[in-house]
Amino acid sequence: MQFSQQALLPKNTSKQYDTPLITGVRNYIDGNYLQMHTPGHIKGKGLDDEFKTFLGQNTLDFDLVGIPPLDYLRHPTGIIHEAQKLAAEAFGADYTLFSVQGTSSANVVMIMSICNPGDKIIVPRNVHASIVSGLILSGAIPIFISPEIDSIYGVCHGISLENIKKALEEHPDTKGVCIINPTYYGVVTDLQAIIKYVHSKGIPVIVDEAQGSHVHFHKELPISAMEAGADIASSSMHKMGGSFTQTSIINVREGLINLDRVKENFSLITTTSASYILMASIDAARKQLAINGEQLLNRAITLSRTARNAINQIYGLSCLKPEDLGGTSSSFALDETKLCINVTKWGVTGREVENFLRNDYRIEVELSDVNNILFIITIGHDEFDIEQLVQALSSLASRFKDGSILVDLERIAKSKGAIRALTLPALAMTPREAYFSKVKYVDLNETIGRVAAESVLVTPPGIPVLLPGEVITKDITDYLNYCIDLGLSVQSSNGLHAIKVIDDK
Ligand SMILES: Cc1ncc(COP(=O)(O)O)c(C=O)c1O
Repeated sequence: MQFSQQALLPKNTSKQYDTPLITGVRNYIDGNYLQMHTPGHIKGKGLDDEFKTFLGQNTLDFDLVGIPPLDYLRHPTGIIHEAQKLAAEAFGADYTLFSVQGTSSANVVMIMSICNPGDKIIVPRNVHASIVSGLILSGAIPIFISPEIDSIYGVCHGISLENIKKALEEHPDTKGVCIINPTYYGVVTDLQAIIKYVHSKGIPVIVDEAQGSHVHFHKELPISAMEAGADIASSSMHKMGGSFTQTSIINVREGLINLDRVKENFSLITTTSASYILMASIDAARKQLAINGEQLLNRAITLSRTARNAINQIYGLSCLKPEDLGGTSSSFALDETKLCINVTKWGVTGREVENFLRNDYRIEVELSDVNNILFIITIGHDEFDIEQLVQALSSLASRFKDGSILVDLERIAKSKGAIRALTLPALAMTPREAYFSKVKYVDLNETIGRVAAESVLVTPPGIPVLLPGEVITKDITDYLNYCIDLGLSVQSSNGLHAIKVIDDK
């Protein structure tokens, strides 16, 4: 039910071979103009020599900005417009915008496009920090709903249709519903059913598809936001789509969304100096996905299956499988290209395994948390990468098994409490009101009962434990202390031990 029935190649495949952005910039470069405009390094001549040599001339020539022979990202009419049209066709959208400020800024645009100050929006509590930025900037009132928590891996899954129905019954005046799909860990919810239900109430659905820019291009991957009928979706092309860091797209379906408003909000927060290197990389990635995506993703899926099977044979490790999700709720499924591996049987945290892999095996994970490490398998990986990964994990497992790595037994006992039910703290004021209130810093242990004025995140993946406007409970301070003890990265504006709260005097 969550999977596409066919590979979603755009109707006019031959057009997808075009890359208007790359061709346009290359033509300009070939014209060999005397550049009396920004960027001031002028084809690298004004750039530090060492860095210049390292980058190479083509990269330096390509580093251009909006000028009349090219186009302007905030009001595209030329090559950017053409490239966006091809992307819309490839992703099955009515309109696509390119973001050079990641999905982080795309999410702000999406929220501001459906919410005025004081409007309600239904949001899963495990949102990425950028959705919170959208709430602060728009002044919307979030109606938080809890995602389901996996009892083995301790990670948040998606939002169920039942929870959405309940929230909409309680708040029929809601202006939009936000869904994260897939989650950081690759879990997807029954997007089609949720969208159908929310649309039956005349309400738009926005999807944070940061982790799913690839799903549209292979029939064995979960259904994409656009195919499922979402009204607007942000997608980090740089994560799984093959483009450069910072690039993302916003796909829009007209009807319940006002496209002009999306464009205005996009202009409001987008740089006037968008990088052509970044934008062209979206153009190239779109072409590759549209033309070769299915074949490339076939390889990634096969590699993921090989890796998952091998890892599940390794002492002490278990890797989240599609079958595992049936136990949580039949409406959840898995994007198999994410490998979430529970390491608790080794008696260490995911963060400690991350360090071993980096220091002893030169492998960098996508993320670690208390219980797990997460790898992504992308269109860039090959068999050798998977062999290296499995060998490293097997070697590490042997070291834990034969006692050559000593584990802290007290820690093992402690990490049993690591799976935290995600509570929904009371919201004393909107995130915007809290953000703009008079504030002060208070020691973490003295914050119980106070109202937070900032987000406190345990990173990665940057999901807030505390949001501006929420009342701090003992459960929250205990959890944060616990994360600090385990050496996880707890981010607040003033270091680990003080939190910005509302100064109510
Ligand atoms: C669910 C989700 N939304 C948004 C973002 C932000 O995306 P970007 O890094 O492209 O700004 C991330 C990043 O990890 C994410 O996981």
